[in-house]
This record gives sequence, structure tokens and C-alpha cells, in this order.
Amino acid sequence: MSTRVILDCDPGIDDALAIAFAIGHPGIEFTGITTVAGNVGLAKTTANALAVASFAGAPGVPVTAGCPAPLLRPALDAGHVHGESGLGGAVLPAPPHGPRDGHAIDFIIAEIAAAPGEITLVATGPLTNIALAVRREPRLPEWVRDFVIMGGSAGRGNVNPAAEYNIWADPEAAAIVFSAGWTVRMIGLDVTLRARATAAVQERMRSFGKLGSELMLPALAQYADSNDSTGEPPVHDVCAVVSVIEPSVFTYTPALVRVETTGTWTSGMTVTDFEATGSPNALVATDIDADKFWDVVLGTYGSLAGSMDQRP
Ligand code: BDR
Ligand code: CA
Repeated sequence: MSTRVILDCDPGIDDALAIAFAIGHPGIEFTGITTVAGNVGLAKTTANALAVASFAGAPGVPVTAGCPAPLLRPALDAGHVHGESGLGGAVLPAPPHGPRDGHAIDFIIAEIAAAPGEITLVATGPLTNIALAVRREPRLPEWVRDFVIMGGSAGRGNVNPAAEYNIWADPEAAAIVFSAGWTVRMIGLDVTLRARATAAVQERMRSFGKLGSELMLPALAQYADSNDSTGEPPVHDVCAVVSVIEPSVFTYTPALVRVETTGTWTSGMTVTDFEATGSPNALVATDIDADKFWDVVLGTYGSLAGSMDQRP
């Protein structure tokens, strides 16, 4: 039986690769994509999600736009990392249609409410949509099968020493999400930095037909991740989707995670307490089997590339 997934994202180069993975993996039933402002503005994250889904052969995956700005703070994008379009150097054909009518928050609530215990919600952007969804429907945490984020860090950040981008961009939203009563499966930066598109990985991507030559390689070539001076960028968001379908790739430790919202230098920090007394609110990834990760990811992309190249 396949696992149903809703991906809330801000494509974004690594979000785009996460979408392609979810489309390509036979064990994932892609229930929908919701978009949020983050790496680039909402109009671009939404257009990118549509373009990637259709390019990867899944134009029927519904895409619903969400929040255009964080809850309280101004929107500060990461165009300097992901390029002006959000997809680095990749230029994809225009998608055949636009987003669904309606708001991401309503889509998330309606789909999860209609299938309690069945849908895994994965967030790979700022947590604005998810915070408003749990505020509007406090039973969401009871109804999801699992909730996973790429975000935060049990170590250092990437925007600054304290904060990882997705949490830093909307810390008030993240604070709401971490205290919503569910166990957040946190795949943080300290672990995703070990999932790098090495030279060998990029070489494999050269054999992936147009998936490699039109999306992956040109996108990654212009991925100016602040932790990357190696030409081997980390693919953070892919980790979150892989964790849904191949749980053994990651090792987890329960922790109490609190989000700093007021610190002058630490706003957006995920203060991760592995020794807290009381109930943990998160399962925090503390290790990754990077070889296994790339076996799964490249195997999935290889099959997707084969099916894409058979299409006219
Ligand atoms: C996260 O921030 C974004 O720029 C990436 O898409 C990823 O979700 C990494 O810190
Ligand atoms: Ca992202």
C-alpha cells in the first residue's frame, strides 16, 4: 500500500528535487502540493511547483497556493541562494494549467480530515501555512499519519550561527507548530548537510535524460547554498520526503524543541533539548546513512527519468 503525502514547500531548488522524488517513488501517492512564500515569493514558488510537477510527468498533482508572507515579519527571500526564479539555472516549459482555486490551509485541512490516519504532511519551507492550519483546526495533529519537516538544527544554523532558514523565515509560525500537540519529525540542517550531491552523484544525474539535463544539473549548478563552497550542494528537502518512505535512512532521538522568537541574535533557533524532563515534542534526526540515501534517491530518479524519456 502506498503512503499518501501532502508536501508544503517553497520551490526552491531542493524543494523541486523533493517534488521529483515524490513523483518518482512508487510507494508514494502524491495527494497534493501546497506552496508558501520562502525561497522566492509565493507567485514563483507556486509557478515552480506546477512546472516541476508537470515536467516530471504528474500534471494532475493538485497545487494550491498558501500564505504570501510570514505571520508577523516581512518576507525575506533566499533568491541569492536559489536564483531569481527559484530554480537556479533550470528553465522548464510552462505548465498546462495554474493552481487550484482556494487556499493551501483549506486544502491541507480538508484532505487530512477526510482521511484520518492516512496522510503524511511534509513541510520543506517556512511553516506559515502549517501554523495557520493547526490554529484553524486543532485536531489536525490527531488526524495526520505523520508530520515531518526539513527545518531547524540541533547544531548550527545557515542564515546565521543560530538559525536555519525555514525556521528563521517565520519563527512565530514554527513556535506554533512545535507546540501544536503532535510529535514533529525534524530533519534538521545538521543532518541534511550530509546529503550532498557529490561529483559522483552529479555524474549519475548526467544519465537521467532530460530530468538530469533540464532540471537537476542546471538547478544544482546555480545552487549557492551558504554551506557549500564545494560544488557539492546539500539537497536538504529531499531528505524529508525520503524519510517518509525509507525510515531506516535516518536515526532519531526524542527531544523537546523550543523555537526562539525573541533573541536579538538567536531568533529562529531551534533549541533542542535531548535531556529535558517531561514529554518530548519532536523526534529529531541525529544521523543519516548517506550511501543508503543516495541509493534510494538515485534509483527513484533513474526510474522517473526512464518513464519521462518514453513520453513524447
Ligand atoms: C532550507 O532552506 C531553503 O533555502 C531550502 O529549500 C531548504 O528547505 C535549508 O535551510
Ligand atoms: Ca525549501
